[in-house]
Amino acid sequence: MSSPTHTTPRGHLYLVGVGPGDPELMTVKAVRILQHCQVWATPSAKDGDNGFSSALAIAQGIVAPEEREILRLFFPMKPVYLDAAADPALLSAWNESAATVLARLDQGLDVAFPTLGDPGVYSTAFYLLAAIQNQRPDIRFSIVPGITAMSACSAGQARPLALGNDILAVVPAAFTDDRLHDILTQFDAVVLMKVHKRLDILITLLEELGLCEQAVLIECAGLPEERIYTDIRSARGRKLHYFSTILIRKKSVQVQP
Ligand SMILES: C[S@@+](CC[C@H](N)C(=O)[O-])C[C@H]1O[C@@H](n2cnc3c(N)ncnc32)[C@H](O)[C@@H]1O
Repeated sequence: MSSPTHTTPRGHLYLVGVGPGDPELMTVKAVRILQHCQVWATPSAKDGDNGFSSALAIAQGIVAPEEREILRLFFPMKPVYLDAAADPALLSAWNESAATVLARLDQGLDVAFPTLGDPGVYSTAFYLLAAIQNQRPDIRFSIVPGITAMSACSAGQARPLALGNDILAVVPAAFTDDRLHDILTQFDAVVLMKVHKRLDILITLLEELGLCEQAVLIECAGLPEERIYTDIRSARGRKLHYFSTILIRKKSVQVQP
């Protein structure tokens, strides 16, 4: 809730897409904003990764974090269902993080929130922004787009995401969703993100639908540990990195008459 006693925060908030992992895939603008900001607010999961922030690791690959304050914002690894009331643990993490960031903005400090890939694709950035705006609607902010993981996967495999009259669906496969079967049947091209914990189920579904030949699994695109599974069945039973994405495209380019 806004309060009439508050003045507009003097600092500026930047939600900065830092790309899918390879620091060279950060935009010139992202690098400039990260260099400019005195404070970096970095997201990490509350459980499971000991506070490791992939966004911070990527940003540090290009911009030295010294002489900056690094704020650690912790978010529980819980699914967000936008058509239902938010989980209380998530709400409290977003609100707590919003208050931490607002305190720096009120001091007149500019704050960067680096986020994996692009802020507009399954990023915590927009939950944080909404929580801040709920407390102070007059916040000054900018969003710096980033190269998405699916773009990096597509480029690395020379497999376009969508061409011509293709219709592309992007699916967060971590969710158990009855619509997945229909989406895979109806769309010309599908990107499955967040696949690492549901891989075997997904492989079985792709087999049933006869889509294994059109699918490729990319683990850690553009990173030294990158691994490609052109036969997706060979990944069955493997413990995958969180940075894992499946690209499916049914049609190919015809250049012969
Ligand atoms: C929370 S989403 C973040 C998406 C990100 N905002 C974007 O624009 O791509 C995390 C998912 O992105 C995908 N991902 C991120 N980095 C990746 C990489 N280097 N290689 C393959 N997939 C990646 C994986 O599907 C992962 O589970």
